[in-house]
Amino acid sequence: MNRSVSDIHSCNVVELTKIHSPAGNITIIQNRVHQPFNIKRVYYLYDVPGGSERGGHAHKALYQLIVAASGSFDVILDDGRNKKIIQLNRPNFGLLVVPGIWRQVVNFSSGAICLVLASDKYKENDYVRNYSDFRKLKKL
Ligand code: TYD
Repeated sequence: MNRSVSDIHSCNVVELTKIHSPAGNITIIQNRVHQPFNIKRVYYLYDVPGGSERGGHAHKALYQLIVAASGSFDVILDDGRNKKIIQLNRPNFGLLVVPGIWRQVVNFSSGAICLVLASDKYKENDYVRNYSDFRKLKKL
């Protein structure tokens, strides 16, 4: 994916496999079955105080699948030209975020868990943390 031209239309909500049982549900995420990348890292945000905003950056090469493992939150996606807001509130749906997209995560419900499956290890030099640098990345 060319990070300069990637756009929010490439960021879609995908339905994940769910095995339903009266005793509780299971959702499964497997490499390349539900997302177009191999998972190298998993992390999760939790104990997020009400009103907090996370994100506020883009990635140059990283793909992510974001899941509301518990509770709900909104992901604001911005490709420099267009924006969309996706509410995640079910553990069997994930939002694919491709490289070159500015994202903010807001409106965390109490007890929300934001589970992130990522295509690479943590690399600070993959982040674009300044919006004017992001506009340059997008050639705007
Ligand atoms: P950051 O990705 O900026 O958080 P968010 O987008 O959720 O607001 O990460 C916050 C801090 O944690 C930052 O100093 C980098 C560090 N961090 C790691 O060291 N490893 C990781 O895998 C992640 C996701 C963050």
